[in-house]
Amino acid sequence: MSATPLPEKSILRALRGEKQAIPPVWMMRQAGRYLPEYRATRARAGDFLSLCYTPDLAAEVTLQPIRRYGFDAAILFADILLLPQALGADLWFVTGEGPRLSTVTSSADLTRLRPVAEVHETLSPIYETIRILRRELPAPVTLIGFAGAPWTVATYMIAGRGTPDQAPAHRLMQEDRETFRRLIDLITEGTIEYLSAQIEAGAEVIKLFDSWAGSLHGEDFGRYALEPARRIIAALRERHPGIPVIAFPREAGDNYIGFARATGADCVALDNSVAPEWAAEHVQRDGCVQGNLASSHLVTGGPALIEETRHIVRTFAGGPHIFNLGHGITPDADPDNVQRMIDAIRDPGRV
Ligand code: CP3
Repeated sequence: MSATPLPEKSILRALRGEKQAIPPVWMMRQAGRYLPEYRATRARAGDFLSLCYTPDLAAEVTLQPIRRYGFDAAILFADILLLPQALGADLWFVTGEGPRLSTVTSSADLTRLRPVAEVHETLSPIYETIRILRRELPAPVTLIGFAGAPWTVATYMIAGRGTPDQAPAHRLMQEDRETFRRLIDLITEGTIEYLSAQIEAGAEVIKLFDSWAGSLHGEDFGRYALEPARRIIAALRERHPGIPVIAFPREAGDNYIGFARATGADCVALDNSVAPEWAAEHVQRDGCVQGNLASSHLVTGGPALIEETRHIVRTFAGGPHIFNLGHGITPDADPDNVQRMIDAIRDPGRV
């Protein structure tokens, strides 16, 4: 007797271009400080990086929001700055402030980095987290692996920290284009290695976070946001035919138009500056879109949370859509508001 095939997971159906009556849902940063169980596990790990590099604990925090809310996808618990660390940069987190890295601003700094083939030495615990998750996740839940896009990762490597306008990276781009270009290429190649290994370990979908794409304009957007994403996606598809990819060129504005087609992404994630009506007309025609509730609604709650959630579901109902936030959930969000959001998506008549 042949076994009945399992129904395809709702996230994968959306990424294939299928429109669904109830869109699948997950949240950026769904494992995070707004959850008491996350804070407890993070305290056990000691610090954020130890949490990322301890597979049992990283898998545990990845599973927490799945247990609590039954999201349709789990995102690997890690960080986009682990790749620079694996390439040889020093990395640490200052509590209350954010990441710090040793800087790369010259060709001499570049020669001190490690060859891309060696990134797995540092990153192998991340692959172990993925293997644990594939065993433990409920069957309908899709596991998303991820990396930072080269421009966003480069902004941190060049400045050694987060910068509001990415000025140090823009300065290097203008003053030493050769070093800048080589750094982008190195990150691109390292990202291909890292994401390929994530897929081999069991990641079913890949997301590329280009959080600072919005500060690239004109030809620089094409050169440093679009082209590296296209290269990464093409290389992954060559090694892993059919692997679905979500691209997040945050605050790309008009550059969202055609981004999926030009890069080969199956889906683009929309930030909060994008009006759903505009995106339904100009972006969703190329395929799946993901987004884009403002995370502030999960802090304030009330009728506006429900109205805006329904508004987004309705506006994207004509095509493939994955419900998500426009950026990560913040530590001051109310966990009950997350449940209200999910109820409004899955059972629009109830709330
Ligand atoms: O979405 C998820 O739940 C998966 C895990 C994940 C984290 N960071 C965990 C994290 C993902 C996908 C990221 C991506 C990431 N990391 C981005 C791109 C997306 C975005 O938010 O724009 C960026 C720019 C980073 C770099 C980074 N990591 C910063 C600037 C910070 C400090 C700011 C902050 O929120 O504290 C981090 C730390 C970080 N990464 C935390 C988490 C849960 C908080 C760490 C803690 O527990 O103290």
